[in-house]
Order: sequence, then C-alpha cells, then structure tokens
Amino acid sequence: MRALFSKGEYMTEVMDCNDRIKEIRADKKLKHADISEITGYSPNTVKKWLTAKDSKHYQVAPVQALKLMEQWLSEGAKPIFQMSTEPSLPSALAEVWALTNHKGGSGKTTSVINFALMLSKQNSEIDPTRKNNVLIVDADFQQNATKSLVPFPNDIKLSISDLLRLNDSGKTYSYKKSDVKYDVLGVDLLAATNTMSSDIAGIEPHDLVFALKEILEWFKPHYDYILIDGLPSKGSWYVSVIAAADKVVIPFKPNKFDVWGVSDVFEHVKKLRIREINKKVRVAAVFCSDVARPYRILDKVILEEVQDRYPDVFCPTTIKNTVKVKEGCDAYPPQSVADYDPKHDVAEDYRQVLDFIKNAK
Ligand SMILES: Nc1ncnc2c1ncn2[C@@H]1O[C@H](COP(=O)(O)OP(=O)(O)OP(=O)(O)O)[C@@H](O)[C@H]1O
Ligand SMILES: [Mg+2]
Repeated sequence: MRALFSKGEYMTEVMDCNDRIKEIRADKKLKHADISEITGYSPNTVKKWLTAKDSKHYQVAPVQALKLMEQWLSEGAKPIFQMSTEPSLPSALAEVWALTNHKGGSGKTTSVINFALMLSKQNSEIDPTRKNNVLIVDADFQQNATKSLVPFPNDIKLSISDLLRLNDSGKTYSYKKSDVKYDVLGVDLLAATNTMSSDIAGIEPHDLVFALKEILEWFKPHYDYILIDGLPSKGSWYVSVIAAADKVVIPFKPNKFDVWGVSDVFEHVKKLRIREINKKVRVAAVFCSDVARPYRILDKVILEEVQDRYPDVFCPTTIKNTVKVKEGCDAYPPQSVADYDPKHDVAEDYRQVLDFIKNAK
C-alpha cells in the first residue's frame, strides 16, 4: 500500500479557521446551535471549534465550515429561524444514503453495489448534461464492497481509516478525485482496509458517533449520491453510519432476525433526531432484498407484518431471489443486475426499489 499522508500527498495544509468563526460568533451573538444550523455540523463539533486552543477537546474547524459562515454573512446574516425551512447546505451537495441493518446477510452490500452502479448510469438532476457522480463508502470491517470493487489490497487508495486519523487529529482533507477513482469502475470508492476495526477502536465513542458525518462533508460537494455500506454489528460505528445519512435504507430478508434489525435502525434514527445529532436523518425505505417468488406462506406473513408496522416507508416491490444477482455482483468489474440481465424480472425489481428510495421525501 502507498504511504499515506507522509508526503502530504493526500493531506491538505492544516488551516485554523476557528479564530474567524469565533469572531463572527461574537459579532453576531450566535449560539452553538446557530453555527450548527449554518454549517451543517453537529452542535457538539461546533463546541470543539469554539473551545480554548489548549483544551484536549479543541478541534480545528474545516475550511468548508468557515466558507459557509462567510456565505451566510455575505447573504445578509439572516436570522437562523428563517433558515430552518431552507437547506443549510447548497443543493449541489450529495444526498447520503446509509444501507444498514445489523443483521448479517440482509442484502446491504449487494444493494449498495446495484444501486450505486444504476445511479451512475442515470443523468444528474443537478446537471442533466452529465451522469451522476456516485461514491461508495465501505463502512464494514469485512471489506466486502471494497473487495468486490478492488480485488487486490495493494490497489486500495484512500481509506476510511486514513480519514478517521486525520479527522481525529483535527486536520482537514482536500478532495482529490484520484484518491477514490479506480479506472475500470463507474463509481468511486472510499475503501475499508483490514485495520479498520482496530483504527476505530482507538477513537472515543462520543467522537466516533460524529466521525463519518464529518468525514463525508469533505466529499459531499463532489457527488450527487454517496452510498454507505453498513456493518453487521452494533456499537458507536454502527450509529455513526446512521448519523452520517440523509436517507436510511433498510434491506431485510424475510426472517424474524432481520426484522428485529429493522426495528433497531428505527430506534436509532429516532434517538439521533431527538438528541439533535442529525435532525434531518430519516428512514426512506424498508425493502425486502431477497425473497422467493411466488411467495411462500411464511414469507408473505412476514412481509405483511413489516408493511403493517412501517406503512409509510415500506417498499411494495421486493427483490426476487435469483442467481442473476450473485452473477452480476461477482463479475469483475461488478455489474448491476440491470446491466447484467436487463430483461430479467429482478432488474425491474431493482429499478422500482431504486425509484422508491429516490422519490422518498
Ligand atoms: N436477490 C438476491 N438473490 C439471490 N441472492 C442474493 C440476493 N440478494 C442478496 N443475495 C445474496 O445474499 C448474500 C448476502 O448478501 P449481502 O452480502 O449483500 O448482505 P450484507 O447485508 O451485506 O451482509 P453482511 O451483513 O455480512 O455485510 C450474498 O451471498 C448475496 O449474493
Ligand atoms: Mg455486507
């Protein structure tokens, strides 16, 4: 693997924007929550920017945060309550989807790869003259998405671990497409490495919960969609994945263990909103990622139960169980089933589920 950051190859210069943010704060008599509303960063992170420089909690604010503060000033420093009906970040920023369910094998990675590849073939809504720019973020220690997209570990470029280290030391990263682009793939990848588990273990849980959201701020201006492949376990990193999302998408297979996983995600989304860690996160879709059709009786009962419980976000289309899904994903480079076998029923299933998620409010 290439030496990361040692030659300043990926790392931008450390810039301390905090003094200017403090100045604006004092001048406009802003609270932590106001700065959070303007910049899109959590109030806890804002606190770290505003704390004394010699405090162990002190964190250097990203340049992007200062830019958003300056933009707010230049637009006339509107009262914050008037902003709450407007997006706090420009509309060109990526929509972040987290595919999550702590139950293993519920279809997270397969769905991320299929949806990401399909989105990358669609025209961008921001600029219809080009295709969507899509980034896959592999947040799973197993590295399944990474290994599917980059078969040789030596070819891995930028990883989540690199950025966690950078973020934890209060530094900032300046985006370079070549850090996440792999020539044969139609999507970019922020990879997982085999040290990710131990790297994450070294970060305080209260910091870890915010870490992925903060890291993705560096990437959001460059993408239409960012899709996170979640992990099959619980803990602060699992919460961090949900906290980083605009839309949470929950795949499940029709068995009771997967359904317990669905309800756990709802609980966490609720807590993240109530605690104002991410006020905008919401469940956009719950969908069955793999089911035999025609339905077996027990599968039908489980599907109806999930629909009754989550009627607003339950996706009526289910993904058919077929070897075509595996064949597309196992190819190198991987293909979405919509490309691998466009006329197959399952290709239409994926198209419909993707539309359901895109259209979810
Ligand atoms: N519609 C489908 N038809 C057939 N097989 C499928 C379908 N969807 C998923 N699978 C298979 O189910 C298995 C589990 O899927 P996947 O790895 O995507 O789940 P996961 O939630 O990412 O698992 P983990 O929690 O271990 O990361 C894989 O072998 C995948 O190929
Ligand atoms: Mg997986």
